[in-house]
Order: sequence, then C-alpha cells, then structure tokens
Amino acid sequence: MRAVVATGYGPPDQFILAEVPIPEPGPGQLQVRVAAAALNPADLALPRGDLRSMIDLPFPHVLGNDFAGTVTALGDGVTEFAAGDEVFGHAVPRVMRSMAGSDRPSLGTGTLAEYVVIEAGTPFVARRPAELPVADAAALGTSGLTARAVAITAAVAPGETVLVVGATGGMGTVLIPLLRAAKATVVATGRPGDAELLRELGATEVVGYGDYPEGVDVAVNFAVPGTSLAPIAAALRPGGRLYTVTFPPPRPEWIGRDDVSYQLILDTNATLGTMSDVAADGLRPVIAARYPLEEGVRAYIDLATGHTVGKRVITTITS
Ligand SMILES: NC(=O)c1ccc[n+]([C@@H]2O[C@H](COP(=O)([O-])OP(=O)(O)OC[C@H]3O[C@@H](n4cnc5c(N)ncnc54)[C@H](OP(=O)(O)O)[C@@H]3O)[C@@H](O)[C@H]2O)c1
Repeated sequence: MRAVVATGYGPPDQFILAEVPIPEPGPGQLQVRVAAAALNPADLALPRGDLRSMIDLPFPHVLGNDFAGTVTALGDGVTEFAAGDEVFGHAVPRVMRSMAGSDRPSLGTGTLAEYVVIEAGTPFVARRPAELPVADAAALGTSGLTARAVAITAAVAPGETVLVVGATGGMGTVLIPLLRAAKATVVATGRPGDAELLRELGATEVVGYGDYPEGVDVAVNFAVPGTSLAPIAAALRPGGRLYTVTFPPPRPEWIGRDDVSYQLILDTNATLGTMSDVAADGLRPVIAARYPLEEGVRAYIDLATGHTVGKRVITTITS
C-alpha cells in the first residue's frame, strides 16, 4: 500500500510517499481502509526527534494519528465492530504505548496510508454517523477530542469572557463555536485575514498574537509552549482560569501569579469525552485545505511552514 513515511529523523521535506506492507490486525485490533486522514502538529514531533531520548522510533515511520474509513478486517476477539462499519478516530503511534496511558490506549500504525490497524476497544474510535462527512470526521480526531475536553473542563458560564490563543488552528476553530453556544464573549487571536472566519465561528473580538486584553475570566492556550504562558496568565482577572494543551506542563514560575488557576488538558482523557461524544455533540471542524495522498508530503511541509487556519486533510485515499 502507499503511505506517507519518514525514513529517518528529520523535517517533513524528507518524508516520502512509499510502498509499505498492508498492516494486518492482531487480537483486539481492526484494519481500516482509510478514506480521509487529518494532519496534526504533533505528527511532526516523533520524526523531528523531539522524544528521541525516550522513544527509539522504528523506520519507516508512517505519519498520521487521525482518520476516517471503513473496517476491512477484524482481529481475534473483536466484538465492538464488524467489517463494513464506517469508523473514525484518533490513534497514536504504537511506540508511544507507554505514554498513551495504560487504560485502553488508542494505538495505530499511521493513518496517512491506504490502511491503518488500530485497537478496537478504546474510547477514541467510534462509528461515524452518516451525517458526518468523512473529511470532517478525520479532522475531528485530535481537534474534536481536545476542544471538547477544554470546553467541558472550563465549564464557561454565560457572559464570561474567554481569550483563545491559537484560535485559528485545528482545536481553536472547533472550540469557538462551543464557547459561543455557552454564551461566552470570545476574544480570539488571529492575523488580520483570519478575522472574518473567526467572527463567523463566534468570536466577538479578534486580537493580534500577544495583543491580549486585560481582566478576562478564562484563557485557553492552543499555541505557545508551557514555558511562555505568563503573558496569557497576565490577561486573567484575579480568580481567573487558564487551560492549556501544550507541553511542557505549566509550572508556577511560568504562570507568574498565584491568584489564578491553571490546568493542562489532554485529548486522551476518556473521562472528558470519547469519539462517540464528539460525534453526538455535532462538532464540526474548519477544513482549510484538502490534498490527495500523493501530496501528503507537501501537506506536511505546508503544516510546518505555512499559516494554519483549521485543518489540513488528506481526502482522496483510494486503493
Ligand atoms: N494536550 C493534548 O492532548 C494535545 C494533543 C495534541 C496536540 N496538542 C498540541 O496542541 C496545540 C494546538 O493544536 P492544534 O492542532 O490546534 O494546532 P494548530 O492547528 O497548528 O493551531 C495552532 C494555531 O495557533 C496559531 N499560533 C501560532 N503561534 C501563535 C501565537 N503566538 N499566538 C496566537 N496564535 C498562534 C497558529 O497560526 P500560525 O500559522 O500563524 O503559526 C495556528 O493557527 C499544538 O501545540 C499541539 O501540539 C495537544
């Protein structure tokens, strides 16, 4: 089968479209023919070598965590799904097993490929509702789970003001409509050309990167590393709440004040929501660009070097 792979550590311009063996499902696993796969910035971390001191990445490494497709084969003992089921979800590389949690970790062989093998019994794979298009379903893997987890945790009250930093990205563009539905006032970061989209999604005000207002009730960070949170924390009113999804996990000295709360939120926390919850809530992504599998390397180069608005999705994967 064809897949977008890294053949060694390096940036995305070293990825290639390659022929690799079709993965076969083991006990408790599903084989899925991938119809669409979405790119995430986290996909680039392993081949870049960010975790090299902890993880010995086997090559070729097939890129991609998020997918939508059709179940084509079942390993022994799978009862949750049947061949022909339309499914979607999020599965991290198998080498991340130890970091994916012991409680039903969702592991896969890489989704920018004609086929992926995933664990069947995890909260992060679900049946795709007929009304959810395949590209949208793929785009909602990481972004939908994380945005939903942030919305549930923040529990924003009507009338609260929420600053969203990184509002233009995959997670931000899913979260803003959830905040609007909660009747929050949303201040979103973006470039001037993003303002119209952000307002359509539900932002009340669009501000430049780092140009934060004062006295907000809640701040959400989807963009800056944990070490750079102080300016965002400074935008909070006393007693305000900061929610962040980036690493390293926040430390008091990086927040710089002790009259606000702060919390790191992870996508793979099933108590904050499953893939079925994402579908049931009717979440929708913004898809900024669609590519055929043949252009998967270019899609990753665009992700690494271009301005990101919503999701980049590989939508024409056929075997
Ligand atoms: N906690 C978890 O479970 C979890 C899981 C997966 C990923 N993550 C992390 O979550 C973060 C967000 O993910 P995502 O998929 O939404 O990423 P994304 O699609 O790349 O979105 C990030 C957005 O932030 C913008 N941005 C960059 N620097 C900014 C700044 N200084 N101020 C305001 N906006 C800025 C980017 O625009 P430009 O194009 O201008 O850079 C982009 O639109 C990533 O760091 C990702 O690695 C967390």
